[in-house]
Amino acid sequence: MRRLRVVLAAGLVAGLSVLGLVGPVTTATAQMTPTWTANIGPLFAANCTNCHSGAGRAGLRLNTYANAIAGGNSGPALIAGNPAGSLLMQRITGQVPPQMPRGGTPLSAADIAMVAAWIQAGMPE
Ligand code: HEC
Repeated sequence: MRRLRVVLAAGLVAGLSVLGLVGPVTTATAQMTPTWTANIGPLFAANCTNCHSGAGRAGLRLNTYANAIAGGNSGPALIAGNPAGSLLMQRITGQVPPQMPRGGTPLSAADIAMVAAWIQAGMPE
């Protein structure tokens, strides 16, 4: 069952990143590569920085680009070009529980796809 979940989650991430990169253009954010400044920073500010700034839960601060790239207690949370292997991605999909935002409403599929496309593109600032 755990193996099935991991396979499903990995498939979801792969599918989402493919959608974000080569899928039909259906939303404004899908038309261009997401950037920290325009897309990801505001998304994290709205959903993550109440816990991930200051001391930062798990040592992870998502309030600036440099802090997000630096990662947390588990090391880098973002691996350029590898959404499926990025801890942050695994946490927002729930592949590695507990799902983030912790205790809150999961990000929308569109927002998760946007984060995947951003990591796939190498996390442009
Ligand atoms: C309500 C507080 C809260 C919110 C909001 C929240 N987190 Fe977390 N997060 C935590 C706590 C507490 C931990 C440490 C315990 C754990 O790993 O579950 C954590 C851990 C993490 C880790 C693991 C860091 C490491 O190095 O081990 C990642 C990645 C992460 N969060 C990403 C996010 C993202 C992305 C968002 C926004 C979409 C988010 N979190 C929103 C509380 C929160």
